[in-house]
Amino acid sequence: MSFANKVVIVTGASSGIGAATALMFAKEGADVVIVARTQAKLAAVAKNIQAQGRKALVIQADLSKEADVATVVPKTIKEFGKLDVLVNNAGMASEGCLLDGKALQAYDEVMKTNVRAVVQLTSLAAPYLIQTKGNVVNVSSVAGLMTSKIPTLMFYSVSKAALGHFTRCSALELAASGVRVNSVNPGPVENDFIINNKLDVQDLKGNLTDFTALGYIAKDDEIGRVILFLASDKARSITGSTYVIDNGCLLK
Ligand SMILES: NC(=O)c1ccc[n+]([C@@H]2O[C@H](COP(=O)([O-])OP(=O)(O)OC[C@H]3O[C@@H](n4cnc5c(N)ncnc54)[C@H](OP(=O)(O)O)[C@@H]3O)[C@@H](O)[C@H]2O)c1
Repeated sequence: MSFANKVVIVTGASSGIGAATALMFAKEGADVVIVARTQAKLAAVAKNIQAQGRKALVIQADLSKEADVATVVPKTIKEFGKLDVLVNNAGMASEGCLLDGKALQAYDEVMKTNVRAVVQLTSLAAPYLIQTKGNVVNVSSVAGLMTSKIPTLMFYSVSKAALGHFTRCSALELAASGVRVNSVNPGPVENDFIINNKLDVQDLKGNLTDFTALGYIAKDDEIGRVILFLASDKARSITGSTYVIDNGCLLK
């Protein structure tokens, strides 16, 4: 799966799935634009990309802010002159449900990063993706395909369900221009997502394997492999698809 001389944007590339995926693209020959808020973590990922002999453009941005999102594509084009792949991976969860008084706060926080930023960034990237006949991979979740087992995470589920339909609708709009749009929907992944989002679900964390049929939790690079596949020419006939990688979570 060669991405030689391709230019790839990976949002949420400072940790977890995004950091692993950004490095995997670099190992396959891509120059990578890495976007997140935490400068120190981005710098470490950039170093790993450069060690592969590829260029890394670090963009420190809070994607919940429209003005920050607006900087990503112009900076990419200024540095590299083109864009081949956009990976909308950055995501967060915020707790709140109908009866705890935090519903609207959680809804607004989650939707800003998990959906609004994706809509804005995809819209800004689309003209450049049309030029290269490139593609988009959105990182969703099995949470977008089932109701949340934890009521306080309902708006995370809602946001990922919205992302799924955005994937399909944008795939249809952009198909006429030769641009593919797909979604990867992981089940539980072994990384710091729960800690990073300060989620009060420690009981769940200890028993994540119980949610999977295979009794195994995926590693970041396993999700990255599916992202690279969908972004590659091997997937040239795939658009609007939802790729589940969940160790059988949805079967239970
Ligand atoms: N871990 C799981 O079990 C799991 C399962 C299914 C789906 N997912 C999805 O996978 C994606 C990646 O998450 P992960 O598992 O790799 O967890 P993670 O390590 O917490 O990564 C989340 C990434 O998103 C970035 N991010 C969050 N809010 C941001 C904002 N406002 N502006 C810019 N960047 C922001 C974070 O960077 P900064 O904090 O540096 O900004 C970080 O790089 C997410 O969309 C998540 O919903 C995760």
